[in-house]
Amino acid sequence: MIPVILCGGTGSRLWPLSREAYPKQFLPLAGSETMLQATAQRLDGLAGVAPPILVCNEEHRFAAAEQLQEIGQAAQTILLEPCARNTAPAIALAALAACEQGQDPLLLVLPADHVVADVAGFQDAVADAAELAEQGHLVTFGIVPTSAETGYGYIRRGEELWQGAWKVAEFVEKPDAATAEAYVASGDYSWNSGMFLFRASRFLEELGQHRPDILDACRAAYGGAGRDLDFTRVDAGAFAGCASESVDYAVMEKTEAAAVVPMSAGWSDVGSWSALWELADKDANDNMLQGDVLAESSSGCLVRADGRLVSLLGVRDLIVVDTDDAVLIADKGRVQEVKKLVGRLQERG
Ligand code: GDD
Ligand code: MG
Repeated sequence: MIPVILCGGTGSRLWPLSREAYPKQFLPLAGSETMLQATAQRLDGLAGVAPPILVCNEEHRFAAAEQLQEIGQAAQTILLEPCARNTAPAIALAALAACEQGQDPLLLVLPADHVVADVAGFQDAVADAAELAEQGHLVTFGIVPTSAETGYGYIRRGEELWQGAWKVAEFVEKPDAATAEAYVASGDYSWNSGMFLFRASRFLEELGQHRPDILDACRAAYGGAGRDLDFTRVDAGAFAGCASESVDYAVMEKTEAAAVVPMSAGWSDVGSWSALWELADKDANDNMLQGDVLAESSSGCLVRADGRLVSLLGVRDLIVVDTDDAVLIADKGRVQEVKKLVGRLQERG
């Protein structure tokens, strides 16, 4: 089994901490290790696991390599994307790399920016999923939903394959709020954890069936790749011509071959400021205060002060993030929209 660690996202919902130059997966957001390091270490002790393939943006190659080195690991290869094309192409490149020399290993796809509190629970679910993946299923790991989060994929369980494993009857990526609420209320849906396990060739087949354009572009980009130390740099022109699409839309919503195995492992996508607040140890007023912060008659807030003093008076459920050159003040209920601010910033150039 080869882990494929996806670390090419921008983490824009955690702006202004997560930046283009240093996205969240390279930051120690939820512990002393960076999120990438925690992801790699979570595999320690899992049987039959080879060194990982990392897929990241060219710009972050040294951060990725150094962070693995710091924890005494080395990647099989680090695939470098000249531009971001989302997760379907990133996984396709890894699958093409894994299939070289006639091999066809299982790929364990892992986002580099999740918190998993219970490593044993994570490893048990992966071990349970391996046989299904061997049989040709594209296995997703389902999480019991605790709220009508719109940033996730939702999986409806279908026919039971064996105890604790189901065929996926329906996969819906990022539904609107009303749909998400209905799904959670029904009890029939799990959240998609964003981790997957499948045979490399099975993924490529399904991608070829549902998005042949992406497979062709990735074949051309990988075919023209150059090698330089531990890095594999894909052909920039060919990759630029690839559509940008997530694996969830490109394959998981469309395939008939998906199966779901539950994962009970204290999982959290630290995708937004409110997710980070949920995870954190909070004070008696439900505030998570980091740095030099004074809070009076305020509750439910997350405050990160990186330099100067930040003070709150009589406010509730706010996110306040103060960095050297930018301050974010947001309603904790609207943190998914931080992305919009980042989009506007990019427009300003
Ligand atoms: N190499 C590479 N290239 N990695 C990428 C790229 C890219 O262009 N885009 C995103 N990633 C990485 C991110 O760094 C992250 O680790 C992972 O791929 C998933 O991308 P996100 O952008 O964080 O996806 P999401 O959170 O909106 O949605 C996914 O995860 C949810 C659970 O956290 C989906 O799989 C949802 O269905 C799922 O519920
Ligand atoms: Mg995410």
